[in-house]
Amino acid sequence: MKVLVVGSAGREHALAWKIGQSPLVDEVIAAPGNAGIAASSRCFPDVADTDLDALARLARDEDIDLAVVGPEAPLAAGVSDRLREEGFAVFGVSQSAARLESSKRFAKDFMQRHGIPTAAHGSFDDPDAAVAYARQLGGRCVIKADGLAAGKGVAMCETLADAERAIAETMRERRFGASGDSVVIEEWMEGEEASYIVLTDGEHVVPMASSQDHKRALDGDRGENTGGMGAYSPAPVVTEACEKRILEEIVHPAIRGMREEGAPFRGVLYVGLMIADGTPRVVEFNVRFGDPEVQALVVRMQGDLVPLLQGVASGRLDPGSPLSWGDAAVCVVMASGGYPRSFEKGKPISGIDASGQLSPADPNVAIFHAGTRAREGAGFETSGGRVVAVTARGGDVREARDNAYRAVEQIHFDGAHARRDIANRALDR
Ligand code: AMP
Ligand code: GLY
Repeated sequence: MKVLVVGSAGREHALAWKIGQSPLVDEVIAAPGNAGIAASSRCFPDVADTDLDALARLARDEDIDLAVVGPEAPLAAGVSDRLREEGFAVFGVSQSAARLESSKRFAKDFMQRHGIPTAAHGSFDDPDAAVAYARQLGGRCVIKADGLAAGKGVAMCETLADAERAIAETMRERRFGASGDSVVIEEWMEGEEASYIVLTDGEHVVPMASSQDHKRALDGDRGENTGGMGAYSPAPVVTEACEKRILEEIVHPAIRGMREEGAPFRGVLYVGLMIADGTPRVVEFNVRFGDPEVQALVVRMQGDLVPLLQGVASGRLDPGSPLSWGDAAVCVVMASGGYPRSFEKGKPISGIDASGQLSPADPNVAIFHAGTRAREGAGFETSGGRVVAVTARGGDVREARDNAYRAVEQIHFDGAHARRDIANRALDR
């Protein structure tokens, strides 16, 4: 079969890599794809991942058997609906189900309607009312742009002055554009974060292994929120008892709720969790795989992912999952200096070969490209904030971490920044 992967980030490289290993798959193609994916698959860089007409044309021209939609923007733009209307099998939620991520306000109200545990919140279109609610919460709160802001429209405010500044930046100065015209203000939840990702056909569920992401730019969870600076799996904070509660109190009520509200959820449900004393609460829902969590998941995953993607696409997911999980994996993101604010592009990358992989090679390591492009002549150069996700497996988290950092030492580009403490929370327990 021929599989089309839609998207261009590290997540899509990881998905293309895993899908390409399936004995069921003859060819993986990607739109627009990226330079790392292009090293082993045909990419269509002129087909934007939100261009519904161009994607439908490509799917027809290439006569694909399955489309796998990676990022939230095309899902929110209705790519899955369009490709399904054209008769294609699609792994990815509908536009209507994507609201669970594309509107934080919808997600928070949805959780309230269905009794799903999460932080207290208020939604505001008016900056003065927003400031008043922040004051009511004692100043210590979290302020979020309502719309999509690539994981960056969130301000953790310790004091009322911080909150006032964040509200001004988001609502009055429009740092995140129209996404910030409406904000959600939340109680600041204490605890440890984890990511719990499941595949679902709207009824049946196949959970992935637990994982944990490192969102802040700097070591020790300092600095700004980013799209994610690294991840590891499994996350020890998700004990067996906690996992049971996540499924019973969050995942199943959410999937049932979406079905009841006429937006059956067929795709990936990513639950961002805050866990305190074994009690899970939802920080956020996403409607796609976590990036960089999925990089860690695919290198751990044993067995074929493709039948599960097909099961979700057809609405007949077999909950007797054929997957098993290797011991552990750690992913370290190497970013451009300055990310998540402004950074320079076009820095040559050394330590990877023409296939985009580590050189000299290490069988435990996969390099997933996010912000790279082919360099004139040969090799790769930087073209984005998160450049590569250096992902390693190991017998346990410590070994996987050591394997990942050894590979990070091999790769160089001007201004490269990587956190040095990925997975420490699993190791310092
Ligand atoms: P979000 O985009 O909603 O996932 O928020 C990004 C990050 O901000 C999360 O991963 C958390 O680290 C943090 N965060 C968001 N909301 C809360 C909250 N209510 N309490 C504590 N931390 C939060
Ligand atoms: N790593 C967090 C996310 O994908 O949203």
